[in-house]
Amino acid sequence: MSGEEAPTQQQEPEQEKQPEEPPPPPAAAAAAAADPAAAPAAAAAPQESAGSKPAAEEKRLSFRALVLTGHGGYDKVKLQVKTQAEPQLKAGEVLVRVKACGLNFAELLGRQGLYELLPAPPVVMGMEGSGVIEAVGEDVKDRKVGDRVIVMSRNGMWQEVVVAPANHTFPMPEQMSFEEGAAIPVNYMTAYMMLFEMANLRPGKSVLVHMAAGGVGVAATQLCKTVPDVTVFGTASASKHETIAEGGVTHPIDYRTKDYVEEIRKISPKGVDIVLDPLGGLDTQKGFSLLKPLGMLIVFGAANCVTGQKKNLLAMAKTWYNQLSLNTLKLMQANKAVCGFHLGYITDEQLLSSNMSKLLELYGQGQIKPRIDSCYHFEEVTDAMRRMHERQNIGKVILLPEPKKVEEEKPKSDPEPVENVEKSEAAVSEKKEEATEEVKAEKD
Ligand SMILES: NC(=O)c1ccc[n+]([C@@H]2O[C@H](COP(=O)([O-])OP(=O)(O)OC[C@H]3O[C@@H](n4cnc5c(N)ncnc54)[C@H](OP(=O)(O)O)[C@@H]3O)[C@@H](O)[C@H]2O)c1
Repeated sequence: MSGEEAPTQQQEPEQEKQPEEPPPPPAAAAAAAADPAAAPAAAAAPQESAGSKPAAEEKRLSFRALVLTGHGGYDKVKLQVKTQAEPQLKAGEVLVRVKACGLNFAELLGRQGLYELLPAPPVVMGMEGSGVIEAVGEDVKDRKVGDRVIVMSRNGMWQEVVVAPANHTFPMPEQMSFEEGAAIPVNYMTAYMMLFEMANLRPGKSVLVHMAAGGVGVAATQLCKTVPDVTVFGTASASKHETIAEGGVTHPIDYRTKDYVEEIRKISPKGVDIVLDPLGGLDTQKGFSLLKPLGMLIVFGAANCVTGQKKNLLAMAKTWYNQLSLNTLKLMQANKAVCGFHLGYITDEQLLSSNMSKLLELYGQGQIKPRIDSCYHFEEVTDAMRRMHERQNIGKVILLPEPKKVEEEKPKSDPEPVENVEKSEAAVSEKKEEATEEVKAEKD
């Protein structure tokens, strides 16, 4: 449904109340409550101006936002139009007109109520984006109006305009598209920090990359290829193997029809040096067993908890029950390292910005380039989430705040069709149940 359609009776716009004093931006305030150290990391909706101007003089700002209205299926993410007073920037802040945002697996988890860093609904999700600076606050020296920037955030990026601390924005190289800019922060930072800050990847090593055709998987593969003679084992659905092999995966493995442990042992009987594990449960145990002596397992996700659009308690219990359990004596005798990584809990601003600089340098040298799987306008957010849930994406799924033009035709994904022959019955029935999207307009 298009953003311009009239709201139905149930979707009657709510009158926006003007508070006497501007409240803290909801996303930032809630993030602060969850994790005080992380408070500045959430991009905020433009904050109301102080209310000192007479109403007639006050300029109003309307913008579209994707709001998580509750936990559950696709229908919980709704497109709303917010209208409020023009924002008053604090010192060090910038106002960004967002051109593209990234969809991450974390938002599928967040929608189901499984992402601990996301404030309670209603909340605008989105941890990354790119756009153009429209205004700068006091003390902002190194950003100016008109700059094209990447924005990194704890949440709140899925809206047309955001207010962000200037030091959470990064100038985009000239040749970088907005879609590419939005695809860099989460996927590439995660892959970069795991491979280079934690695992100290060196020439001649071997790496197992799960979900190798996904956002982090493609980033990890490209980064592995920046080091000579690195062998990449990549698990992915069979239909994606040709593409990931072209992208640098040395040995693509179809985890759906084959035992990947056996397949890896056939090629490398001693196992691998590094395992990046975004799956959890039994796969963490398998990853540990696959490590060569002095190898390192990095656990950074629990995708096995997710089986479809709705929360699956059985899958969660199974993943929890099958976790790798170790004692330090056993670890010592095994000569193996086990680590955990979570970008959301990294609050060292300097570390984040120095890693982003290195990534932008690698981009400039042509060593990394985000693979954009598909782009969806805000009103198509259900299709975007479904594409990831149904395991169809190869690379990054992007959300575009700009309203969809009526004549625009689907599909907008990369030319090669993904034959997702393994699509589960559950996924098909979910599609039928899918709730219609709703557009709320908030009037003055
Ligand atoms: N700790 C951190 O800081 C951090 C940061 C970013 C991401 N992550 C984790 O990294 C993983 C990848 O994230 P991403 O955003 O890049 O997503 P993504 O890999 O693009 O996710 C979608 C792909 O993953 C594969 N997949 C495997 N299990 C799946 C499942 N249960 N449901 C849906 N797809 C599944 C599917 O491809 P195939 O079937 O072809 O494999 C699918 O196309 C996630 O576990 C995420 O939580 C962690």
